[in-house]
Amino acid sequence: MKKITITLIVFSFSIASFCQGNTHKQESGKYEGLANTPPMGWNSWNTFETNIDEKLVKETANIMVASGMKDVGYTYIVLDDGWMTKERDANGDLVPDPVKFPSGMKSLIDYVHAKGLKFGLYNCAGTKTCAGYPGTRGYEYQDARFYANLNIDFLKYDWCNTEGINAKEAYTTMSNALKTAGKPIVFSLCEWGDNQPWNWGKPIGNLWRISGDISPCFDCEDNHGSWSSWGFMKIIEMRKDIRKFSGPDHWNDFDMMEVGDGMTNVEDKSHFTMWSMMASPLIAGNDFRKMSKETLAVLTNKELIAVNQDKLGIQGFKYANQDGLEIWVKPLSDGNWAVTFLNRSTTSKKINFDWTKNLIKDADFNLELDPSKAVFKLRDLWLNKEIGTTKKAFISDIASHDVITLKLTK
Ligand code: GLA
Repeated sequence: MKKITITLIVFSFSIASFCQGNTHKQESGKYEGLANTPPMGWNSWNTFETNIDEKLVKETANIMVASGMKDVGYTYIVLDDGWMTKERDANGDLVPDPVKFPSGMKSLIDYVHAKGLKFGLYNCAGTKTCAGYPGTRGYEYQDARFYANLNIDFLKYDWCNTEGINAKEAYTTMSNALKTAGKPIVFSLCEWGDNQPWNWGKPIGNLWRISGDISPCFDCEDNHGSWSSWGFMKIIEMRKDIRKFSGPDHWNDFDMMEVGDGMTNVEDKSHFTMWSMMASPLIAGNDFRKMSKETLAVLTNKELIAVNQDKLGIQGFKYANQDGLEIWVKPLSDGNWAVTFLNRSTTSKKINFDWTKNLIKDADFNLELDPSKAVFKLRDLWLNKEIGTTKKAFISDIASHDVITLKLTK
């Protein structure tokens, strides 16, 4: 009898607390299916760092539409570090900088949405962001509600000032907070690969950075003392072996692009090609207001974008390297393949590639390209024309740092 009484008391207590308003259901797990192909867009950091404002965002959104970038798939406008004031308000809420955004963040987001684009913001798992603005640590659920109320679509979540905390736990907490807030938001982990997010990020986020920051150079390392930033080929080389962890809705993120940020046009073309071959998110980082025709042409090459956005979502791999002439291969849907010849050396090279003598195996995904068994049509994705079949060897010159990308179709 005594036992029953205790049970009844506990039961009625829990009903009472439920009725008193403790009705918030804690959700967990990321929003699924928000990034079935690699996200495409623009981020403010590479060119502007914290020098951002509403005029820049509006002009960038206008150009994204007017230039045809939106039509080929660019969607997200992401404000990186520097959009807030240095302190939270009296309620502990983040405060968009009223000097940089005099019309208010909500009105800016509505403006971007009205253009048919999506909008993203940045914060950090630590106590402060990398540039010293308020971080989210301890405010995860409050900040997630703030983003949901603003109606953002994308959150980049960085890793500065996180001493002593566990990366998987910190990103899980924010992922759950976003889910609980109830607005589907692409969750972009930016933890630089320090804690191998490819091993644990899939249920938590839609994409994850795999390296430190990019630098606008082909193959350099920019040493800043305690950290380095990296030329695009350094990032590719560093993370070419984690390809089996990337795929639809859980992408290895090779960082925002540096196309149009000071490299030669040939290098920009190679950079864009390799980001496409690696199925990396395609987030431009240049100043659209000063974009040359050549830069726009690189960023809007539809045939390369189709390689990047292929629904199989497989990251490419390095098949061969001879004296700096590399061959990179990406399996595509419908049994098709993309093959990129990349001249990583400082002198021009000759390509003489006999397809029928090369059986190309993708051991990670158990696929095989065997031109000795089936003939493939060849299309040059930069010249945008058919160039023959795999029956004949492919012979061409290739300039230093240049690429030739061919699509093989059955
Ligand atoms: C880190 C990130 C960058 C950028 C800056 C902002 O370095 O890796 O992409 O977000 O912080 O401070």
